[in-house]
Amino acid sequence: MPSYLLDFINFMLRWLHVIAAIAWIGESIYFVMLDNSLKTPEDESSRRKGVFGEMWAVHGGGFYHNQKYATSPEKLPDDLHWSYWKSYTTWLSGFALFVLLYMANPGFYLVDSGNDWEWAANMNGAEANILALAFLFGGWVVYNQMCKRISPNMERDGLLSLAVAVLMVFVAYLSTQLFAGRAAFLLTGAVMATAMSANVFYWIIPGQRRMVEAMKAGEEPDPLDGKRGKQRSVHNTYFTLPVVLLMISNHYSFVYSHEYAWLLMSLFIFAGALIRQFFVLMHAGSIRPAYPAAGVALILLAFWIAAPAGSSSGDESADADGPTLDEVHAIVEDRCVQCHSSDPSEDGYSSAPAGIEYDTKEQLQKMMADTKEVVASEYMPLGNVTEMTEEEREVIADWRE
Ligand code: HEC
Repeated sequence: MPSYLLDFINFMLRWLHVIAAIAWIGESIYFVMLDNSLKTPEDESSRRKGVFGEMWAVHGGGFYHNQKYATSPEKLPDDLHWSYWKSYTTWLSGFALFVLLYMANPGFYLVDSGNDWEWAANMNGAEANILALAFLFGGWVVYNQMCKRISPNMERDGLLSLAVAVLMVFVAYLSTQLFAGRAAFLLTGAVMATAMSANVFYWIIPGQRRMVEAMKAGEEPDPLDGKRGKQRSVHNTYFTLPVVLLMISNHYSFVYSHEYAWLLMSLFIFAGALIRQFFVLMHAGSIRPAYPAAGVALILLAFWIAAPAGSSSGDESADADGPTLDEVHAIVEDRCVQCHSSDPSEDGYSSAPAGIEYDTKEQLQKMMADTKEVVASEYMPLGNVTEMTEEEREVIADWRE
């Protein structure tokens, strides 16, 4: 019952998380598009009121007329629309999921027992959890300090972007050295996602509050607040596509269990940012296909790096000596069926994880490709709790039919 309850909560939290993220990112993308699509208003009276840009749109059977004021409008309406709960809900539900799944089972999910770095391979659950939290919040602290030091008055944007890019490669590298591959991808995504939500929480919203208060008091708002809000929301925009990819990476062990997982992750992060750049510029009226082309080139490079070695068709000569289905099933019964069964014996499992069952040979045969992949990458058995040996992994690697 408790494991069923946890599974159910996990399922519902995931739903909430995805919905909140769609709402938040959707709105954020919309506002970047709006900002970049603004045109100088044609009529004199708008300009005199302080409108510096406007956009006309048609949507859902109606016509919309957005106007952006250069500084403050003459009179601020009382019912200003603010956006922050979408961001906070996304972060909170994501963090809850992380706690429920990863931090509740750090031995399975965070620790990479095959890590070359012995200390990381042997850390206990509590250490892994503390390290994961330090990683998450440390990432924000470093990023925030970078922004404050490199660009205290919102200048040197190019240099800051470069520094953030280098930081992300470092985060990707460090995460894969410390944690299991799947957790490393998730945590790197979570470092960016935490920076995004913290940008909203610590800078964008408080800055807007100060601006509104100043306007209400009849004072000139501090222009730095507006500029900083803009700078941080621009960063957020380049984080969005990479974060989404890292968050959905959890079933693709060919990437996160790869020897060069950090490099693959970095390539995907830059590809996402480059593709986003295309849309940002497109809304500002400039079509620059070189950006998505560069993004796709990075994805192709990742494809090439991650491609399994020696799987070409010329390599079939060993067929005859490969293990039989019976031999493979015997190994799977020893090492996998504890969890992957219609009636798992492993504590905490109420049904077969990922819906994969190995009770019969037919089930095993159908899952051949996936089974070989997760065993070769050492993603399975999870945390190697069932102590699969190297010899057994080799047998499965040689299994051909
Ligand atoms: C301790 C429990 C446990 C053991 C033992 C275990 N698995 Fe898993 N397995 C899981 C869990 C949990 C998942 C789901 C992880 C996820 O959501 O990606 C999973 C997922 C999988 C997947 C799907 C991977 C994906 O990304 O969709 C395959 C294939 C798999 N296991 C094969 C195996 C094989 C083969 C073995 C034995 C060599 C094995 N597992 C042993 C718990 C286990």
